[in-house]
This record gives sequence, C-alpha cells and structure tokens, in this order.
Amino acid sequence: SQTLKIAAIAGDGIGREVMPEGLRVLEAAAQRFGISLQIDTIDWANCDYYQQTGAMMPEDWKAQLSGYDAIYFGAVGWPATTPDHISLWGSLLKFRREFDQYINLRPVRLFDGVPCPLAGRKAGDIDFLVVRENTEGEYTNLGGILFEGTDREIVIQESVFSRKGTDRVLRFAYELAQQRKRKLTVATKSNGIAISMPWWDQRADAIGADYPDIAVDKQHIDILTAHFVLQPQRFDVVVASNLFGDILSDLGPACTGTIGLAPSANLNPERDFPSLFEPVHGSAPDIYGQGIANPIAMIWSGALMLQFLGHAEAHDAIVRAIEDSLKQGPHTPDLGGQAKTTDVGQDIAERVRNAT
Ligand code: NAD
Ligand code: IPM
Ligand code: MN
Repeated sequence: SQTLKIAAIAGDGIGREVMPEGLRVLEAAAQRFGISLQIDTIDWANCDYYQQTGAMMPEDWKAQLSGYDAIYFGAVGWPATTPDHISLWGSLLKFRREFDQYINLRPVRLFDGVPCPLAGRKAGDIDFLVVRENTEGEYTNLGGILFEGTDREIVIQESVFSRKGTDRVLRFAYELAQQRKRKLTVATKSNGIAISMPWWDQRADAIGADYPDIAVDKQHIDILTAHFVLQPQRFDVVVASNLFGDILSDLGPACTGTIGLAPSANLNPERDFPSLFEPVHGSAPDIYGQGIANPIAMIWSGALMLQFLGHAEAHDAIVRAIEDSLKQGPHTPDLGGQAKTTDVGQDIAERVRNAT
C-alpha cells in the first residue's frame, strides 16, 4: 500500500511529552496492520523557534506542509516567553484557516475505569461528538483599539459568519447525525447576540430542510453548558460556532473525567489540504517537565488520523487498546493514578501490537 506521509509537530510544553507516546502507538499500529508510515519531525511552530527567529514558522511553511497527508500536532503556547495570541495565530490558527480545516470534530466519551466527576454516570452514558466551526466566527483579528490609553478607550472585535462557512459546518453535522441517532443539538445565543445568532438559527433551519428526519434542538449556550453537566446522556451530535465549540469541547471532556483524554480532528473534508490531528488540551506549563501528562488525547488523535486516512481497522484497534488500558492499565495523576506518560504510552502500544 501507499506510504502515508505525516508531519509531526510537537510544539511546546507537554506537547513534547505526549508526542513520543503518540508516535510510539502509531508505529505499533503501522507494524500490526502493515501500514507504511513516513513520519517527519518538524522543529518549528513552537515558542523557542519564535524566540530565536522572531517568527513561529519559516516563510515557506505552507509549501513545506502541503505535501503531507496529515499533520500530527501536540500543543503550542508558552505564555512565559511569548504572548498566546502571537504563538497561536502564528501556528495552529494559521493551519486551520490556511488549510481550510473547517470542521473541528471532538469526541466526548466516558470510559470504563475512569472516575466520573458527575454522580451516577457509568461508561456508555456519555458518548457524543462536538462539531466545532473552525475557521471563522468569533475568532478573527478584525477590529482595533480607538483612543488607546485614554479614558475614552474603545475596543472593537468583529465576528465573521459567512453563509458558506456556516452552511458547510451545519451540513457536516446533519450528515453525522444521520449516521448516528438522528439527533442534533445546535448551540446558539439568539437572545443576546442579536445579529449573528438568529441568523445562525435560520441557517440551521435552512440546511435542516434537507434532513427532515433529524430531530433538532436549539439551545442557548448558557443552558447548554448546564445540560452538559446535568443531562449529558441527552447529547449525540452538538454543532457550535468556533468559540462556543471551544468552550463545549473542554467542558464535555471535563465531565468525562479529564481533558487529558480528549482528541480532535481538524478536517478539510475535501482533502484539498492536509488535515490536522491534535489533543484538545494545551501545553500545560503547570505540569510540564514532570513526565506525568496523560498521553491518551494525543494517542486517540493519532487513531482519528489513521481513520481519516483510510485505516479504520487500525483506528478501532487503538481505541480498543485505550479502553482496555483505562480499565486495567496504569493511570496518570489526572485520573488519580501515579503512572508516568511513558508508562501509559508503552501499555497502549503493547496492546495495539497484540491486537487480535
Ligand atoms: P491547558 O489545556 O494547557 O491546561 C489546562 C489544565 O489541564 C492544566 O492544569 C493542565 O495541567 C491540565 N492538563 C492539560 N492537558 C493535560 C494532560 N494531557 N494530562 C494531564 N493534565 C492536563 O490549558 P491552558 O493552561 O489554558 O493553556 C496553556 C497553554 O496552552 C497556553 O499557551 C494556551 O494558549 C495553550 N493552548 C494550546 C492549545 C493547542 O495547541 N491546541 C490548546 C489549549 C491551550
Ligand atoms: C483549542 C485551543 C485553541 C482554540 C487555542 C489555543 C487558540 O483552545 O484547540 O481548543 O481556542 O481553538
Ligand atoms: Mn480550547
């Protein structure tokens, strides 16, 4: 079969600790399932590179990355040296926008063996997908500061909701709902955000006309966050704007025990550009250097990457290995255990190698 070309960008902080475990499991899956992998390590798109060069990436970054089948990404951000808006707009957000990765798919699942912070929930009760718009919405650099430094100072930050950008993420979510339980939750805030959100609701209805068999539930983001905590079993596919989806995709995983498990797929479904696979979490400066970061979000993201690249069997084997490891294997401190990042990575890799 054809060689898969992967660009591995570890980034900053625990991105550098979880990446080797992600690669360990990818190599194990490649070996077990006869997949030919070429993994190239990229040593830019991190804050050290920025400190040395004054830019997060070389000028020809897009040409360098365009030839890859996918980008496997750790985490970027080191606020002690580099302001977050510089490091993130100079790397991850650039990838999402320039590679038109307009879907950010973020699974939320409660596993057996993971202590759930919500009382009375067991594995299987929480199992849904957040579909986050990933290229526009509230994430813009449009606007400015007027009368800066005076007591008349005014800050304007625009949002952008294009019809194309909104319709395509809604359609993706409807299609996904159709393959699952035919239930779609649409995050909104049409009571307070008086222009974009009523319009977003209208687009949800317009696209929904093509999917009459899907039950649609529009919920304001405030009560939606409450329902994530109080009634998580209600959800199956949840579609949201960029910012709302960002918030929901930390809250959801927190409800399933730890954000250290949560993976994401930044997809360009048309495959005009490489898609990007990364944990939901960041560089976690508070625990970096101790070797205790949970690598499962990184590992699961690798499974999503193999699935997107046509290796469903390898994906399934990695997810099963994660399930088994969470049930019987070592746990990192975020799950109440004492294991190291490498212990968990080795345990999962071993299970993938022996997958039947
Ligand atoms: P964070 O996700 O890095 O950390 C939040 C909390 O969760 C911390 O207490 C951290 O220790 C814990 N945590 C995160 N991942 C963990 C893991 N795998 N195992 C165990 N515990 C884990 O969020 P933050 O503190 O807001 O951000 C830190 C930096 O990361 C900032 O620079 C931020 O901009 C950046 N960031 C980057 C990404 C990304 O690259 N995709 C995502 C989020 C934040
Ligand atoms: C995420 C992160 C990013 C986002 C930050 C680091 C810009 O929080 O991937 O969820 O807000 O999209
Ligand atoms: Mn986030």
